[in-house]
Amino acid sequence: MSGPNTSYDPVEVAALDPAQLEQAVTDALAAFDAARTLDELKAARAAHQGDKSPLALANREIGALPPSAKAEAGKRVGQARGKVGQALKERQAQLEAERDERILVEEAVDVTLPTDRQPLGRRHPVELMAQRVADLLVGMGWEIAEGPEIEAEWFNFDALNFDEDHPARQMQDTFYIAPEDSGLVLRTHTSPVQSRSLLERGVPLYVGAIGRVYRTDDLDATHMPAFHQIEGIAVDEGITMAHLKGTLDRLATELFGEGIITRLRPSFFPFTEPSAEMDLRCFVCRGADPDCRACSGTGWIEWGGCGMVNRNVLTAAGVDPDRYSGFAFGMGIDRALMFRSGVSDMRELIEGDVRFDAQFGLEV
Ligand code: FA5
Ligand code: MG
Repeated sequence: MSGPNTSYDPVEVAALDPAQLEQAVTDALAAFDAARTLDELKAARAAHQGDKSPLALANREIGALPPSAKAEAGKRVGQARGKVGQALKERQAQLEAERDERILVEEAVDVTLPTDRQPLGRRHPVELMAQRVADLLVGMGWEIAEGPEIEAEWFNFDALNFDEDHPARQMQDTFYIAPEDSGLVLRTHTSPVQSRSLLERGVPLYVGAIGRVYRTDDLDATHMPAFHQIEGIAVDEGITMAHLKGTLDRLATELFGEGIITRLRPSFFPFTEPSAEMDLRCFVCRGADPDCRACSGTGWIEWGGCGMVNRNVLTAAGVDPDRYSGFAFGMGIDRALMFRSGVSDMRELIEGDVRFDAQFGLEV
C-alpha cells in the first residue's frame, strides 16, 4: 500500500483511490449481471471497460505517478481490470449460450404440421395419354395434324366413301348441327383428318391426329358421348398390311408394355379395304372369366379399327391408287387409358374428381 503522496495533485489521481477502484469493479460486475442481452452487454462493456470508463482512466493515471508508486498502483489497477475482463467473458459466454438455445427453440420446424401450400394442378390422364401417343408417332418420324371438331358432313362421311344412303352412316350415331341443311356434324371419328391431310399435304404421307370426337352413345363403363381417338394414316409406295400390323403392335407394346396380346379381327369400314379391328387381351380377366364384366366374357376388348386405305378415298383426294397404297387406324384413347391404368369404369375419366387426376396425372 502506498501512503499519501503530496508531490502530485490528489484530485487528478482520484481514480486510483482503492475504494473507488473497488467501486468501479463492483459497478462493472453489477452492470454485466444486469445485461439481459448481448446488446445490453455490449453497452455495459463500453461503459465499464471502454476508453472513458473509470478503470481506463485509472490506468492512464498510473503514468502520472511517481516511479515509486507506479508498481503498486499498476498491480491494483491490473487486478481490477482482470476481474472485470473475466466477468465480462463469463457473462458473454452465458448470454451467447442462452441466445443459441433460444434460436434452436424459436426456429425449430415442426415437420408434422399440415402444409398450407396450394396443391399443384395436374394434367388430365387422357391428355397425358394423348401426348404419349403423339410422342411415339413423332419418334417414328410421323407428323401430327389437327382437324375441326365441328366438321363438314362431307369430310366426316362422303370423302370417306360413305354413300348417301349407306347403312354405315347409321353405324355411328351422329350429332348433327342445326339447321338441318347446315352440312355440319360433330365429327364422329378422327378419320376426316385422313382426307384433310391427303388433300393438304399430298403423298407420301405419315400423319397422326389426336382429338375429341362425339357420338350419341349412352354413358356406360366403356362408352362416352364425347371421347378421344388417335388416327394414323400412312400412304406411300409399297405399303402393305404388314406395315399396319407392325405399327399397331409397336404402339400397343409401347403403351401397354411388353407381353400385351393383340389380335386383328376382320371387320368393315367404308374407307378401308380390307378392314379389321384390333382387340387387346382383356386386362381384367385375361380371357379366363366367362362372366367378366369388362370384356363381357369374350376375353377381348376392342381398341380400334384399321385397314388398308380404300382406293376410293385415295381417288377422292387426288392420289393415284395404282401407284400408292396406305393403311389407316383409329384407336380409342380413353380405352387405351383404361388398359394402361386399370381403370375399370370410363365414367371416372370425366367425373372431374381431382383425386383421380392426381392419381394418374402425376407426370409433368
Ligand atoms: C372408327 O371410329 C373408325 N374411324 C376407326 C378407323 C380408322 C377404322 C381408320 C379404319 C381406319 P370405331 O367406331 O370402331 O371406328 O371406333 C374406334 C374406337 O373408338 C373403338 O374401338 C373404341 O376404342 C373407341 N370408341 C368408340 N366409341 C366409343 C365411345 N362411345 N366411348 C369411348 N370410346 C369409344
Ligand atoms: Mg368398332
